[in-house]
Order: sequence, then structure tokens, then C-alpha cells
Amino acid sequence: MQAKVIRDGIHWMGAVDWDRRWFDALVPTPQGTSYNAWLVEGTQKTVLLDTVDDSMAGDLMAQLADVPRIDYIVAHHAEQDHSGALPKVLERYPEAIVLCTAKAVGYLQDLLPLPADRLRAVADDETLDLGGRTLRFLHLPWVHWPETMATYLVEDRVLFSCDLFGAHLASAGMFAQREEILEPAKRYYAEIMMPFRAQVTKHIERLSALPIDLICPSHGPAHDDTLFIRTAWQQWAAGAPVGKVVIPYVSMHGSTRRMVDHLVGALSARGVPAEPLNLLVNDLGAVAMALVDPATVVFATPVVLNGLHPLVQSAAYVAGALKPKTRFAATLSSYSWGGKADDQVKALLGGLKAEFLPPVACKGAPKVADFAALDALADLIVSKHREAGL
Ligand code: FEO
Repeated sequence: MQAKVIRDGIHWMGAVDWDRRWFDALVPTPQGTSYNAWLVEGTQKTVLLDTVDDSMAGDLMAQLADVPRIDYIVAHHAEQDHSGALPKVLERYPEAIVLCTAKAVGYLQDLLPLPADRLRAVADDETLDLGGRTLRFLHLPWVHWPETMATYLVEDRVLFSCDLFGAHLASAGMFAQREEILEPAKRYYAEIMMPFRAQVTKHIERLSALPIDLICPSHGPAHDDTLFIRTAWQQWAAGAPVGKVVIPYVSMHGSTRRMVDHLVGALSARGVPAEPLNLLVNDLGAVAMALVDPATVVFATPVVLNGLHPLVQSAAYVAGALKPKTRFAATLSSYSWGGKADDQVKALLGGLKAEFLPPVACKGAPKVADFAALDALADLIVSKHREAGL
């Protein structure tokens, strides 16, 4: 990789990981990602903001080859995708001091072989004069860990936002294009930030007081269209749910699929959009993304060995863990000789503050009474949405 000039004295020095398909061995990244490090030069001091994942440390070190001195390295976040190359950079620049939150001082030592005397905690709102340029540190806990912070470059009106406003998108371009960024940004929000949407909302409100011309996150391209990305994130985190229904499902022999198809049709006939999500062809990131907006989720499963299909179990677990703004939930199931699919879905969705609607369980293939029960569920969803003003 080659360093890129963002502004005079501000350089991107990150690494684009085109081939990464799993992040943290947890989150699917179908479009790869990038680890963004930024070099900011003042007349007196030079600062590197974040490093890169250790697997791509060579990319960063090559770009630093012509940088003779670094005074400070800002570690916004201790997670290894940003801090992994820190030991190598500290070795190359023995004079450099790492600036981070007090919590990160501990985390960085827990995660990496870093000597305590190279780490210095900075306070919220503390400033650092680089000579003609001022860094202002903004503590932003829980986006994405409790120790995370961002940096505002005052004179240039640039926000280095770390994971906030990020996207897992490998791209050769420097600045995000609307049509390219929206889906990966939403997927990233859903997978990484949705459990912390209250904190995301609070931090976006705080940042709205700053004049910001450029947002430089730690993943994906930078944003010169800052209002667009801030508005999108604000809507995902704080906007009211939408009167839609998402239906993650698996069907083994077609019975569950027929129930799903009937419910989708019944909802559509009543003016409520519904999105069936076949878990055989949609990964858990797609499920997370589909859960961001809808007011209602319906899990549909065949009963396998008295329980949920494992893919439905995973999707329900993810929904409970990510805590989307879902208001209503229900279960459809097709069984042969027993099972309590609804109870299991409810247990997995424990973290979700949703009202559970009556389940529809059919023995074998759905019959007249089952289709009538699905019509009744569609009626109930319509009335619940209406009562909620959706
Ligand atoms: Fe990009 Fe939470 O690390």
C-alpha cells in the first residue's frame, strides 16, 4: 500500500484487507475491510493515530519508512485490529509515547507486550498542541469497547472517529460514495454497534456540536459527506422502528416455507411489508442488518430433535444479543411429534424488550386451520403496529 494525502500534513497510512471474510472470527465481512492509521504533522510534533492489524503490519511499516520521527501514537481503541502493530511501531520509534484513555492503558498491557512507561492516559476533552494543529481527545465509551475514544483535529475540522461511523469495506477510494457505503455501513452498525445504540446516540449528539468537515473512521473509506453518514447512523440507532416484519427461517421439507410464504402474503395484503430471510443463504450479518429497522421479527423453524433448527437458534441468539429496536416477536414452527419452539425462541430473545405474540405451530404440512392462524397473526401484527403508531 502507498500512503495517501488527505490534506496537507494529514496522511492515510492504513492497510486494505481485501480478502478478510471473518472479523474477530465472529462477524462475516463479505466485502473485506481496512485498518486505517493516520499520520498528522504539526510544526513541532508528529502523531500517528492508530496502527493496523498485526497481520498487515508490514503495510504500515513500509509507509512509515520515510517518516523519521513520531512523537505520539494515539491508540483510540485497544482491540487488536487497531493496536496489533503497536509493538512494532514503538520499537521503530523509541521516543514515541502512546496516548489513550486510562482504561486503555490497562487493556493494551493485557492484550499486547507493551511497557507501562510508553503509555500515557489522556483525559476527556484534553488537548495536545502539535504546532499549528491541535488534537482534542474525546472519550467515547462503548463504541465499541469501554475504553474507546476519538480525536478531533480542531483547525482542520477533522474527526478521527475510530470504530464509530466505520464500515467493513475494502476500497481503493479514499472517500465514501453514498451508493457504495450505505449497505456495508449498516451491516457494520448492526453487527458491531447495535447493542450499544444508546451510547451511539449519546455520542452522535455530543459530536453534533462540533463543526466537522471530514470523518476518518478506523474501517472503510473516509466521509467528506459527513451529514449523510451521521444522519444514517442516527436513524439506525435512535429512529423509531419501521412498520415492517422480518422473518428469519429455515425449511427442511417445505412446510415451514409454506407458512412463511402465507404470512408474507397475508401481511402484504394488509399493507405491511415483510422480508423472508432464508438462513441457508443469508449469513448472520445479513440477519443483524435486517433486524435494524423492523418493528416485528418472526422466527420460523422446523422442529428438529425437539428443538429449533440450529440456524434459527443462532439467529435468535444473535437477535437477543444485539438488542435491536424490535417491539413484537413471534414464532412459526412445523413439527412431527413434539417440541417447544416458541419457548426456546423466547429464552434466546431474553435481551430483547419485545412483546411476544401467540405462536403458530402446525403438525406436518400447514392445513386450513394453520393458514387461518397465520391470517390471525397477520391481523394482530397490523393492529399492534397501528397501536404503536407505526
Ligand atoms: Fe475495529 Fe472494535 O475494533
